[in-house]
Amino acid sequence: MSDGSKQTVADVMSRPVVTAVSGETVAEAASRMRERHVGSVVVVDGDVPVGILTERDLVRLSADGADPSTDRVADWMTPDPDSVPSDADAAAAFTSLAERGYRHIPVVDDKVLVGLVSMRDLMRIAAIQPADTIASDIPRGLEGVAVAETTIGDVRGFEGFYHYRQYDAVELAEKRTLEDAWYLLFDGELPTLDERNRFLDEVRPLREIPAALAPVLPEIARLGTDAPPLDLLRTTVSLMAAALGFRPSLDVDRVELRADGLRVCAVVPTLLASIHRLQRGLQPIPPHPELPYAANYLYMLNDKVPLPEHARAIEQYLISTIDHGFNASTFTARVITSTGADLGAAVVGAIGALSGPLHGGAPSRALAMLDAIGTPEQAEAYLREQVSSGQRLMGFGHRVYKTDDPRSVMLRGIAERLGGEQVEFAKQVERTAVDVLGELKPGRRLYTNVEFYAGVVMSTCGLPREMFTPTFASSRMVGWCAHVLEQAADNRLIRPSASYVGPPPPQPVPEI
Ligand code: ACO
Repeated sequence: MSDGSKQTVADVMSRPVVTAVSGETVAEAASRMRERHVGSVVVVDGDVPVGILTERDLVRLSADGADPSTDRVADWMTPDPDSVPSDADAAAAFTSLAERGYRHIPVVDDKVLVGLVSMRDLMRIAAIQPADTIASDIPRGLEGVAVAETTIGDVRGFEGFYHYRQYDAVELAEKRTLEDAWYLLFDGELPTLDERNRFLDEVRPLREIPAALAPVLPEIARLGTDAPPLDLLRTTVSLMAAALGFRPSLDVDRVELRADGLRVCAVVPTLLASIHRLQRGLQPIPPHPELPYAANYLYMLNDKVPLPEHARAIEQYLISTIDHGFNASTFTARVITSTGADLGAAVVGAIGALSGPLHGGAPSRALAMLDAIGTPEQAEAYLREQVSSGQRLMGFGHRVYKTDDPRSVMLRGIAERLGGEQVEFAKQVERTAVDVLGELKPGRRLYTNVEFYAGVVMSTCGLPREMFTPTFASSRMVGWCAHVLEQAADNRLIRPSASYVGPPPPQPVPEI
């Protein structure tokens, strides 16, 4: 099977083909694509292909603000698609697909659909270098491009749904503890009561700051008194991985890599609380042996056992932010792991990616926006002015969600449960902002994302603003490490290509 040039399309094509009919709705066809894990459906009339509907068409539909539950497949499919016969040479079919910019092509013999062949099938089996031919085909920001297979979780942007393993993430946040979700991501299953207790015993001692790091922490905090705590966490985690001798993921087995992951996830809340206190000239508070993750985190920050409702609200927020598809920081962690680097390197890179305002740096900015608005009466004028002048409203919009972000819905509920003036004001601003965005940015489908109510919930529970993004980082650390484990278990170097668009080379190098 290694000599792709000798293979025919019949050797690599998928069958039976997932099909649709032109009269059904796009939502029906999209749901079949999702169930069957395919990126396209062939639209047929009997056995004869009459069109093809791909993920790209779904992205176009969303960008146009159309409604998949009423629009028909016929409205969005590419009619009369090109096809290849099953006896065509696989390498020639690859070149032809690449030249025409297709990702999928129906395989047709005597007008009858017999299979479907994808770019991915051909690249894998025909072992052909694709870089030059398909680089221009990739959407900016890799939007909608599936770059890996994962069993950790996924996000369904059109439905406003995301999951960890096979469970609804919001339901997990409602019914389980953070440690249960952590166990689920690391070990693949939800723990029983016994397993939960054993896991708590396993991670409890790992919350202590390693002896080698403890004396350095005050120095780090002193050097960065006004630095964002996330930046200091980045430095501290890097140092800790070196001090504890984390070895390249390429050289260690899963047991050792899992132990490194547990160590980092367990100690990050302690590091964050210590950094925060040291920056204020306060003594770090050691972990409380009786308290679980979230309550212990609040305890170490404030030197006070938190109210149960505050601890639970923060725990739910933390569970809901553990993982979220192939977001920028998770992708970063996987890219670094794909080089065989150690787990410390992967999560330090991920912290860097998360620190940007377009990713994890928004919740404090969302609260700053509420402050800047000041009163409900000023909301509309302020928001209009911002959007009209090209500014982005922090806490709104999402690359994948084109409807309500389920995390934002859950956090709004938590904020309402906690009560207070801020939540009513935030809800008013949300309604106005959605209207303003709908009017000034029609068709973009901009709603609140996780960050908008996260700020409200965290501040109500007594977390200072500068700790919002670091708190997000502490739970996302669990997701990053789960992805590191998955990447290392079945690794291939992630090394894409770019389209060179500069002056044509080679040009003579000028002498000086
Ligand atoms: N306010 C105003 N307009 C917006 C916003 C927003 N928050 N978000 C997107 N838009 C507009 C853009 O201006 C653009 O309009 P145009 O077509 O007229 O140019 C259109 O919507 C599409 O925007 P993109 O930048 O292509 O959307 P993308 O998917 O790349 O961005 C992102 C997603 C970065 C989250 C964006 O919505 C944003 O900047 N939001 C504000 C920052 C924020 O809340 N970040 C936290 C994200 S959640 C997380 O990472 C955990």
